[in-house]
Amino acid sequence: MKRDLLRLVDLTRDECSALLALATEIKTALRARTPRALLAGKTLAMIFEKPSLRTRVSFETGMFQLGGHAIYLAPWDIRLGERETVADVARNLARVVDMIVARTFSHAVLGELAQHARVPVINGLTDLHHPCQVLADLFTLVEHRRKLDEIRVAFIGDGNNLVHSWMEAATLFRFTFAVACPEGYEPDAELLADCRARGARIDVTRSVTDAVGGADVLYTDVWTSMGQEDEAAERRARFAGYQINDEVLRHAAKDALVMHCLPAHRGEEITDAVIEGRQSIIFDQAENRLHLQKALMAWLARESGT
Ligand code: CP
Ligand code: NVA
Repeated sequence: MKRDLLRLVDLTRDECSALLALATEIKTALRARTPRALLAGKTLAMIFEKPSLRTRVSFETGMFQLGGHAIYLAPWDIRLGERETVADVARNLARVVDMIVARTFSHAVLGELAQHARVPVINGLTDLHHPCQVLADLFTLVEHRRKLDEIRVAFIGDGNNLVHSWMEAATLFRFTFAVACPEGYEPDAELLADCRARGARIDVTRSVTDAVGGADVLYTDVWTSMGQEDEAAERRARFAGYQINDEVLRHAAKDALVMHCLPAHRGEEITDAVIEGRQSIIFDQAENRLHLQKALMAWLARESGT
């Protein structure tokens, strides 16, 4: 049966751990100049309804390094659901390519693609989830010798797609996840309840210092996500104070790591000094998108028998 990655809990804890181990292998092989063409002759279709730097470049490069080929489809190329139905796009692509990655606004549209495509579908970000980013983040933390069952991760900012994927990660591993956000910008209540019911330890607070107190990892993301541009001015006002800066960093553990999925709005959710500071592992995260997603594509192909 084919496997998809639409959200993080599509993986079990053991599968997630296996994926992180495979990413290490693949990264080491690339560094040693002994890469394996695990997807020779395979093709990946990349559907993007929103802009992207990291996701597009890492998937496209990753497929090339694995011996395959990737085709970028911009919003105006296929006009998903407008020029033809989502189901028809899925069925057409699946007759020709071996895998699909899609960045859509609606998570339901991604689900529809996966339902109608007989090849694996990967979530390249939706309004609700960004699992590839969080998988790469977990990989980055393991590389930095953090134990995923023991740390405290504090997220400062909007209860958005990144937060939802982190909440799901907290159902697989036993870390504590604290979110500090202004009123009205909490993570999805139903998903929060569901993750807590699965055993995740998640705190939601208004207080940045409460969230950050003793944290091993500080994470943030833009205050205004793609698709919310009309709310940018209001959000800038509401999120004032929800910034990772030197003062906030002082409340965290001494060797705390600072993470951001990028793109960053320097001076808003995070200061220049912290991004460029010695505790920042932000560009390691960006690089690890490549290695982790290569592992993910190879693993999905193997599991799906494609
Ligand atoms: N972090 C991330 O997904 O970046 P892009 O939006 O540039 O792909
Ligand atoms: N929350 C951000 C993440 C960008 C990678 C967005 O959806 O725009």
